[in-house]
Amino acid sequence: MDTGMINNTYKHWRLEQDEENFVWLHLDKADSTTNTLSEAVLTELEDALNHLHRQPPRGLVICSAKKNGFVAGADINEFTHFESQHAALEAIQRGQRIFSLIETLNCPSIALIHGYCLGGGMEMALACRYRIAEDSPQTRLGLPEVRLGIHPGFGGTVRSLEAAGPLTALNIMLTGRSFSARAAKKMRLVHYAVPKRHLFNAARSILRKPPKQTPLPWWMALLNHRLLRPWIAKYMVKTVAKKAIRAHYPAPYALIDLWQHYADDREQMLREEAASVASLLVGKTAQNLIRVFNLQDTLKNLGREQKNKPKYVHIIGGGIMGGDIAAWCTLQGYEVSIQDREHETLGRVIKRAFTLYKKRLKKPYLISTTLDRLMPDLPGHALARADIVIEAIFEDAEVKRQLFREIEPQMKNDALLCTNTSSIPLEILAEALEKPERLVGLHFFNPVAKMPLIEIVCGQNSSDDNILRATTFAKSISRLPLPVTSSPGFLVNRVLMPYLIEAVVLAEEGVPLKVIDDEAVEFGMPMGPIELADTVGLDICLKVADILAQNMDINVPEQLRSLVDRGQLGKKTGQGFYSFKKGKPLKTAADKDYIPPVDLQERLILRMVNEVIACLRDGVVETADLADAGIIFGTGFAPFRGGPVHYLQDRGAQQVYKMLQQLQRRYGQRFTPDAGWQQWLEQEEVNG
Ligand code: NAI
Repeated sequence: MDTGMINNTYKHWRLEQDEENFVWLHLDKADSTTNTLSEAVLTELEDALNHLHRQPPRGLVICSAKKNGFVAGADINEFTHFESQHAALEAIQRGQRIFSLIETLNCPSIALIHGYCLGGGMEMALACRYRIAEDSPQTRLGLPEVRLGIHPGFGGTVRSLEAAGPLTALNIMLTGRSFSARAAKKMRLVHYAVPKRHLFNAARSILRKPPKQTPLPWWMALLNHRLLRPWIAKYMVKTVAKKAIRAHYPAPYALIDLWQHYADDREQMLREEAASVASLLVGKTAQNLIRVFNLQDTLKNLGREQKNKPKYVHIIGGGIMGGDIAAWCTLQGYEVSIQDREHETLGRVIKRAFTLYKKRLKKPYLISTTLDRLMPDLPGHALARADIVIEAIFEDAEVKRQLFREIEPQMKNDALLCTNTSSIPLEILAEALEKPERLVGLHFFNPVAKMPLIEIVCGQNSSDDNILRATTFAKSISRLPLPVTSSPGFLVNRVLMPYLIEAVVLAEEGVPLKVIDDEAVEFGMPMGPIELADTVGLDICLKVADILAQNMDINVPEQLRSLVDRGQLGKKTGQGFYSFKKGKPLKTAADKDYIPPVDLQERLILRMVNEVIACLRDGVVETADLADAGIIFGTGFAPFRGGPVHYLQDRGAQQVYKMLQQLQRRYGQRFTPDAGWQQWLEQEEVNG
């Protein structure tokens, strides 16, 4: 290859100029396994593009030298360091200018895409005249910025609207979903979806004879008309409002506004796009959502690289949890055997697994090959070959210990034993084992396929190596591992329970159920506490509450007990606090004249916050960041608030502490600030 006049001393980009005078720009971000568009990457790109403007080649291809994909997005951590909105604006405008340099090149340009092509990466691709994506399951394209509290800012709103039409483009940006190469082609986000072996040839032949671009069909273009936009925007705002309140999540609303008001004027829309992102970026929501993204990364980075990946997983107990854990581990590629005492239970496991695979995998051959890996095993023959054994039988210490005594002699010498217990101390269970160090808790949440967190419960006997193995396993099934000590309720249930109990106390005081739930949703919880209790099952809530009451200062409300006594267990029986119709709670609006207690929200939320402080003092989790991560991913705690500890810091520890003291005076003991507050108050004083 002749590199000619081209600068090839870049740190992040490699340039090649071939004999046909096509220039290939390979992005290979230094010291990173993933390409992101950091300032340094963009600076070099700008330099290269300026050169290509001076000496235009016959064609340009932008591609990636990384195995895992094209570009995963902008460098998010740089987003947290802007000193002012003006500094953010300058950085965004610069990104826009650089991508315009691609667009205005005097030659055809192609983005050659494999793997991740997200956010800023997708925006860069959109600035190219053609986009070719590898047709493989690894390819994912999208504009997920809204999940970080912003929207595309490097011209991506304008260009995606031009490429895919307003309905599709806005849908892509508002949902933040990512798509396969074929789906992206159908949406006109890419021009071609081709197998890997054809990628480079496809690029060459397009550059040799650039095909004509097909314009948007007239009806798609019509939807951009200034008379139609207000109507469509109104409908979109209504749809968004069902999912996210404007005050909590301003980005989707800003995006719709941008389109509605500026879609007629490309230049102005670019200017407004940059201004809008700059203002969102320095706002609390975006900063907190970026924090949540980083917390997720922290959990993902726990565990270790696997050299000898375990292959066989054996699960004992095919009830709600064991059955779903088996189905999930199989979906994630493991060979799984599931053991229970009853044939019928195993039949139900397979049926539920089939439903999950049908929904997730869609294609019949994928469904059947996955089902082939899930083996019902009534007598437990497969136990002897398992690398990992997961126990999910009844929540009864003696029954579990008896099982451990029976199975340990049959297990492989180095097999890991995990328990899904939600309340029994691991030390009690480990007494039944010859090798107590092999036992680690893997506390999954219900429903397994939806809840991203697994608490890795570390007993006093669990060996470090086995804790690491369990953590790594959790990661390998696409779950976020959170190490916690073996103490009552671990982290998530311990923090959630006082909140649920306070909600029931409020209900007993006569506050309408819907008012209680609405207050929590207003705070940013995904679902109100009463509806949550009904959804989890009141019997399960009562069981956990009773266990926690043995160690914590909580009074289990009578109303909860009496509903369980009457068999009204919530959603699963059609009646709990609410009546359910087709799986949905029937909520009655409160009387028009009803005025809710002014401290209702504080009572719910601060009980949770106070318990997090207690958990940190007890060392249930190691750091405040891990506590925030656990509560966000385990309970759905308002992500835009950045987690309970972050929330209290943001509001001011002093202020929250005083509020707790007030609540204590009004409602008694249960609001007593935990001794752990001292540390937070002192810290705040030191930091001024
Ligand atoms: P479940 O009652 O639905 O299922 C238990 C299953 O274990 C039954 O199918 C039973 O036949 C089987 N079983 C009992 N003894 C057995 C034995 N010796 N050998 C083979 N199979 C046996 O219980 P669920 O709700 O699935 O809970 C299981 C475990 O998961 C418990 O430790 C529970 O605390 C924990 N857990 C439950 C959650 C939930 O939301 N249900 C959430 C997180 C953990």
